[in-house]
Amino acid sequence: MKVGVIGSGGREHAICLGLKNSSKIEKIYCFPGNAGTSEVAENVILNLDDFENIKNFILDNQIDLIVVGPEKPLVDGLVDFLEQFNIKVFGPNKIASQLEGSKIFTKQLCQKYNIPTAKFGIFQNKQDAKKFLEKTAYPIVIKADNLASGKGVYICNDDKEAQIAVNEIFDGKFGLAKNLLIEEFLNGEEMSYFIVSDGLIYKNFGTAQDHKRVLEGDRGKNTGGMGAYSPSRLISEDIESKIINKIIKPTLKGLAEHGTRYKGFLYAGLMIVNNEPFLIEYNVRMGDPECQTILPKLKTDLSEVFLACCNQSLDKVNLDWQNKKSLCVVVCSNGYPDEFKKNIKIENLKSINLRSQDYLFHAGTTKKNDEVYATGGRVLSFVSLSDNFNEAKMSITKNLDKLNWSGGFFRKDIGYKVIK
Ligand code: AMP
Ligand code: GLY
Repeated sequence: MKVGVIGSGGREHAICLGLKNSSKIEKIYCFPGNAGTSEVAENVILNLDDFENIKNFILDNQIDLIVVGPEKPLVDGLVDFLEQFNIKVFGPNKIASQLEGSKIFTKQLCQKYNIPTAKFGIFQNKQDAKKFLEKTAYPIVIKADNLASGKGVYICNDDKEAQIAVNEIFDGKFGLAKNLLIEEFLNGEEMSYFIVSDGLIYKNFGTAQDHKRVLEGDRGKNTGGMGAYSPSRLISEDIESKIINKIIKPTLKGLAEHGTRYKGFLYAGLMIVNNEPFLIEYNVRMGDPECQTILPKLKTDLSEVFLACCNQSLDKVNLDWQNKKSLCVVVCSNGYPDEFKKNIKIENLKSINLRSQDYLFHAGTTKKNDEVYATGGRVLSFVSLSDNFNEAKMSITKNLDKLNWSGGFFRKDIGYKVIK
């Protein structure tokens, strides 16, 4: 079977590597991929906004299955477009992708189906938003209603910060903003909960704890994610049953009543407050770096999972996991998430010896003349599986020491809540 993976991050490298382990896969294409995916797949440089071109490449090369990694092509309707040509695609359609594409769509679904989430208001212009702020108590959360790679969210501690947020969002800092949300601040601990669904049934796909802030001690700006560990320390049978019954099931029911089915990974970003889960946001894909953290634990053939979701036969697949702790540390270019230099050589990659439960996934990297250069903000993810988080961390630290790269940095405290 030939499979195509869309995307270029650590998540997509982890997916390519998972597929590589399947005896059913004869060839993997990655659109456009990175230096890491080029080791296991053929990287294909195509404009991801040009659906016609993508479709032609898939048909010309007789690719049997497409897996969409990132949210943008999903929200833009790539799945709906390719399915018109009988191409099998793993990922949700355009309507279901509104769960990530429009925070207001999700909030309205939460309201209708009583899904626990922060109280909120929707505002269409600066004036109305600022009028509301006059009588509000702080902290408060202000969000742009469009895809902003996790950056369109402001936690405001006073009126001055709130004014800046409202101005920046409506002035188009994250693209054209028709709406803005003002939300109650939820004080708790975050957790990422994943499922995979074929549109008929769903299965739990693990939990993780991301570290979104750029600086140690969870300070500084929000990023795409600086590291993660799995499972989340918060998961228990009681919490899981609340997540499923109060959040996941009503969401899938709501989508069904909306006339659509959910196929693909669904990622619930949750805040756990006094042992009760609240939905902060949905993402219609695996997380990055959560994907790199969770996938190495999967024993089941990944291609079988994707195919079963496309064929509505997920009930016949048994998801089998290694009972291990997994930790992931992301190495970023100096300056990220602000401006950073590109095309910085990563010298010591070849000196890293990965042990059997160690993984190194590439994100913003490119290969030139057999040398690897950093071209993106998040560059590499180091992952290790072990019986405990301490050992996983020690393994990663050894590899990071060997890397010793002056062009980048990483958070040394990833997993601090589970590591003594
Ligand atoms: P989002 O892009 O919606 O996941 O938001 C980014 C981050 O902002 C989240 O991971 C949380 O850390 C934080 N956040 C978002 N909404 C809230 C909220 N209502 N209360 C507290 N923190 C929030
Ligand atoms: N790690 C957060 C995300 O993928 O959105």
